[in-house]
Amino acid sequence: MSPFLLTRTLPVDATDAALRADVLQGLTRHPKTLPPKWFYDAHGSELFEEITRLPEYYPTRAEREILIDRADEIARVSGARSLIELGSGSSEKTRHLLDALPVLHSYVPVDVSESALHGAAEALLAQRPGLSVHALIADFTGGLALPGTPGPRLIAFLGGTIGNLLPDERAVFLKSVRSLLSPGDALLLGTDLVKEEKVLVAAYDDAAGVTAEFNRNVLRVVNRELGADFDPAGFDHMALWNPEHEWIEMRLRARRAHTVKIPDLDLVVPFEAGEELRTEVSAKFRRDGVRAELGSAGLRLDQWWTDSGDRFALSLATAV
Ligand code: SAH
Ligand code: TRP
Repeated sequence: MSPFLLTRTLPVDATDAALRADVLQGLTRHPKTLPPKWFYDAHGSELFEEITRLPEYYPTRAEREILIDRADEIARVSGARSLIELGSGSSEKTRHLLDALPVLHSYVPVDVSESALHGAAEALLAQRPGLSVHALIADFTGGLALPGTPGPRLIAFLGGTIGNLLPDERAVFLKSVRSLLSPGDALLLGTDLVKEEKVLVAAYDDAAGVTAEFNRNVLRVVNRELGADFDPAGFDHMALWNPEHEWIEMRLRARRAHTVKIPDLDLVVPFEAGEELRTEVSAKFRRDGVRAELGSAGLRLDQWWTDSGDRFALSLATAV
């Protein structure tokens, strides 16, 4: 098997200042929050892969359908020699794109989850031994320094992960992506679309309870990394549709009044019975909104493709 390069721009230890600051800030405000990027330790990445195979979780299948249909067109229009993928996870769907890009020189998967990057790079190199894979352990919201791979570059951000950022975070993020694009480069963006509430809620509250476990996993991360004593079973998973913001809100609701100790932060956190901890949003989009958000960041929407059920969209954008 060919070797792959793995570069780290994040601290090795998740107990770094960022986790402490996020947990301290999030659990001492009202309502309490915990930021989503801490979902993805090795167990969290595995649970997410399980989510992608659930009957209720349509986004992965819908986006794969578009990728299969449009891969040749994306390859032709972009002529990409480097594919940079943000929040690449298992890179499973990306294979359709990689297979369609004959002149591809480098693939640069970027993720906070080291275990996901390892698994992805190994699986890819077994299939495409000639490909140069330069995996990057990095936070895509933190000003990325990309390796100097040959252009044109295609930056892919799939899975609807952009919806896990709040609107002002998206604006900052899209501007930072814009700044990475040279003339001839492009952005391929996956967005889940607004649809019937019951379909959306089911996708984030599946019958088998996998999403509930994924949501509770953030408590296990805080237990392990900061010595906290959260009882994950003491919280109910909730997924609510917010029609004003057009996003799904994930919450964890304390079943009873109790306190949680977090020794590493010297913190005792009281929970009332029924108190809700907000963990993540997953925004859903419309074409005009995507075009406007891209436009504000100096990006032009060149192509908009949806799946046969109009559930999910892939956009191709270039710098203006
Ligand atoms: N692109 C894959 C995975 C989506 S899940 C798919 O479409 O199936 C979101 C991925 O983004 C996870 O692998 C997670 O580890 C990663 N991620 C979440 N927040 C991140 C951040 N701030 N920086 C880098 N990666 C992040
Ligand atoms: N990017 C995925 C999405 O918004 C992440 C995700 C799927 C997720 N299910 C979740 C995040 C449940 C938190 C909880 O669809």
